[in-house]
Amino acid sequence: MRSPPRTRKKVFVTTRLPEEALNLLKSKFEVEVWPEETPPPRSLLIEKVKEIDGLCCLLTDKIDEEVIEAAGENLKVISQVAVGYDNIDVEAATRKGIYVTNTPGVLTDTTADFAFALLMATARRIPEADRYVRGGKWKIPWGLMMFLGQDVWGKTIGIIGLGRIGSAVARRAKGMNMRVLYYDIRRNEKLERELGAEYVDLETLLRKSDFVTIHVPLLPSTYHLINEERLRLMKPNAVLINTSRGPVVDEKALYKALKEGWIWAAGLDVWTEEPTDPKNPLLKLDNVVATPHIASASIETRTKMALLAVENIIAALEGRVPPNLVNKEVLEKRGG
Ligand code: GLV
Repeated sequence: MRSPPRTRKKVFVTTRLPEEALNLLKSKFEVEVWPEETPPPRSLLIEKVKEIDGLCCLLTDKIDEEVIEAAGENLKVISQVAVGYDNIDVEAATRKGIYVTNTPGVLTDTTADFAFALLMATARRIPEADRYVRGGKWKIPWGLMMFLGQDVWGKTIGIIGLGRIGSAVARRAKGMNMRVLYYDIRRNEKLERELGAEYVDLETLLRKSDFVTIHVPLLPSTYHLINEERLRLMKPNAVLINTSRGPVVDEKALYKALKEGWIWAAGLDVWTEEPTDPKNPLLKLDNVVATPHIASASIETRTKMALLAVENIIAALEGRVPPNLVNKEVLEKRGG
């Protein structure tokens, strides 16, 4: 016997969403939310995609070819609540005619604020000083040589990847009277004029910058972009900031660089494995400032990201092209 036609489209959400976004989604579709903090197990995801029309996911959900191949013919959209989408096999989705969407734009300034905050905190050793005060180690009232850090004002910053977030960091750097160098696979002369940024090759950027901040997506070409050879080019007073993706930096080489003083410090929001193992040797170093992948985590921005992800689903399931479509090639496949 054939099953009766479905009246409401089904969406599976792999995480709890802010109420506003969830209510909007529920007003349109039948919604199931995975209730745990940890991502849903892979076997469950493989079962779910067989019956849903839309999937709302996070970068902690591995949406690879196997998951996508398991999808039933109803699945129209995979909506990622993040700007990066290296956890999704976009080509496999395109082959199946499934839209992949992300949430660019709304998190740019929040992420750039955080990258800059991490830069300042690392340069001025704020987390280490906080541990010192709380740990009862503050014995002398004021020490001329106590907690000496690096100046930020007027220094040179090297931005790897001058996309949305990289250029927002450049704007902040200008406000700190910094010389801005950048490297990207594409030169952007308009932004150079607007931001006073200087285009250089990666090696020159690493040699000349006091602060190096990474804003590239994770791709085969950016995996271990910062490796031992490149770390060795950096200045001994240099600070490396990574708020992009952990695997862009070779963590083992970074440990050596920090331990042996080839560079001065690192501020890391992203890690090779997330969560990183508490035994990660980098966490034993005082010249590492560590945060748990929270660069876009402000109340306002996370709400905007969820709302945008929901809007992408609504558009796709109501027959429109979603506003933040990643795989534009899918339109040909869908005859759109
Ligand atoms: C977070 O890392 C994002 O890609 O939005």
